[in-house]
Amino acid sequence: LASIEFDVGAIPEGQSVTITWRGLPVFVRHRTAAEIEEAQAVPLSDLKDPETDEQRTKPGHEQWLIMIANCTHLGCVPVGESGDFDGWFCPCHGSHYDTAGRIRRGPAPLNLVVPPYEFVSDTLVQIG
Ligand code: FES
Repeated sequence: LASIEFDVGAIPEGQSVTITWRGLPVFVRHRTAAEIEEAQAVPLSDLKDPETDEQRTKPGHEQWLIMIANCTHLGCVPVGESGDFDGWFCPCHGSHYDTAGRIRRGPAPLNLVVPPYEFVSDTLVQIG
């Protein structure tokens, strides 16, 4: 079904935008070096849904985090740059996600979902 192309080039470091793909909100975040470092330093044993930062990003494009913007608990849209792990906080029932969008505390069972995507150029990403 529908894939979309999106140019991430205009998103400054440290900022995010929310786009729509297949009717779903999708976060596109341009992570800072500190956010990437923080995500990569987390031991897998600390994670409820163990995934490395590398599994959630593309090689050479680690600054870009692309995720479906629905909390994996009951689907609310989490708030960015928020929560106890510097990532996202879902105010509905208190789920905290880290700078890789991984669930760290609260009722959500799984990490924010990374949709299928590829970079087709340095800044152009095809989602879906
Ligand atoms: Fe996010 Fe319940 S929907 S914590």
